[in-house]
Order: sequence, then structure tokens, then C-alpha cells
Amino acid sequence: MIVLKLGGSVVTDKECPETVDEAALERAADAVAGSLEAGHVDDLVLVHGGGSFGHVHASEHGVSTTDGTHDAAAVDAIHGAMKALDEAVLEALLARGVPAVPVHPFSTAHRDADGALHLPTGQVRTMLDEGFVPVLHGDLVAHAGEGATVVSGDELVADLATALEADRIGLCSTVPGVLDDEGRVIARITSFADVESVLGGSDATDVTGGMAAKVRALLELEAEASIFGPADLEAFLAGKESGTTLD
Ligand code: IPE
Repeated sequence: MIVLKLGGSVVTDKECPETVDEAALERAADAVAGSLEAGHVDDLVLVHGGGSFGHVHASEHGVSTTDGTHDAAAVDAIHGAMKALDEAVLEALLARGVPAVPVHPFSTAHRDADGALHLPTGQVRTMLDEGFVPVLHGDLVAHAGEGATVVSGDELVADLATALEADRIGLCSTVPGVLDDEGRVIARITSFADVESVLGGSDATDVTGGMAAKVRALLELEAEASIFGPADLEAFLAGKESGTTLD
């Protein structure tokens, strides 16, 4: 089973609010459809980010993964934008014969008073068993004491991979991998100490998904993870090493 995240920067035009990068989305959907058709992938869970949909509205309303809102209209704006993007992603997948079905985290997950995410996965597992490709997305979630806060696609990937005992995790973003001081892709990372000097020791300033936080979180997971760019999506799905591998 593979959990694959398509970063918001891959499927949207980050410069223009609420704009899908149609060409990039179509290429990604082609790669997913091709890998299923070729039998390279059996069980696939997709997650996509917010890009110019969720992030624009979240920052407009001052909502982050830790600072929430009790304003239902703000929830509607942020969650609504994510649902609109999700609809575009589903459409691209369905048009290529991928049996994609939506799972909206706002309707299923929550954070407790400590900020820990609780994401039920029974419906995702059943969808997989029944031959569907569940599609989740960065979203808002009800957060005890905070109203509603952002849940990033990266957090969803980590929880899904653990709960569903994923074999492989892929994070497809616009960078081709974790880069060293000279801008070259680091092929393999086995401990955070390997890359601390390049990424910086503290991830305090990038709680919403900077590279140091991504690497740290992925290294903690059982499954092997890869960080790669859109050009490597097909190769990743075909089981080849792509971008940076973390295990
Ligand atoms: C953000 O999701 C979701 C919202 C802001 C509501 P992500 O944090 O996973 O999005 P990207 O991949 O960075 O764009």
C-alpha cells in the first residue's frame, strides 16, 4: 500500500489565488492512472495539499495548525476552498479511470486539547478493500479549545501511513528532493543528524511543513518514504528510487 501526497504547489498555481495548475494536475493524474493500469500499484491512498486554495484563506483568517477560529464563516471559506480544489483533483483522476473517492478530514478528524490529531481510518481501509482510491486533503479540523485549526497533508500522510501500515510513502512537491549545500539531491537519509547541518537543527519555525519538519517526521515512520518532484512521480509509483529516500 502506498500513501502519496501531491503537494499544493504541484496541483495549484501558488501565485494566483484559487487557481488549479491544470497542466501539472493532468500530468500527475496521468502518472497515477498509468501506474494503476500497469499494475505497478494495488492499493493507493492519495492526499493533496492546499496551495493557492487553502493557504490563502487560512492566512486571511489568521488560522494555522495551532491558532484556530470559532468563526463558522471562516471555516466555510477555508474548508470550502479545499473542497473546490479536491473536486478538481477528483475530476482529473475520474476522467482517467482512477476510482477516486473523497474523504474530507473536517468531517472525520479532530485535534484534542494537546493538539494531537485523531484521524479515523476505518472508512479509508474499507474503501481500499472495495477497490477505491481514497483522496484526502489538507483541511481544517475541529480542535478542542481552539475552534478549528489547519491540518496539513503531511500530518495526514503520517497518520495514514502508520494506521494503514503503508509499505511506501511519497511526497511529491516542486523540489526534486532534499538538497545539499550545493543544491544537489541527497539520495538517501537514514538519520536527521546526516542532514542537520544542511536543514538547520530546529524545526520550530517551520511547523507548517518546511523541509526539516518533513524529514524529521518521515524518519520516524516505519515505511520507507521518498521526497521527489513531479518529473519522478511515475518512477516512484513504478517502485523505483526517486528523489531522496528516507528510511
Ligand atoms: C494546507 O495543506 C491546507 C490548508 C491550508 C487548509 P498543506 O499544508 O498540506 O498544503 P501544501 O501542500 O503545503 O500546499
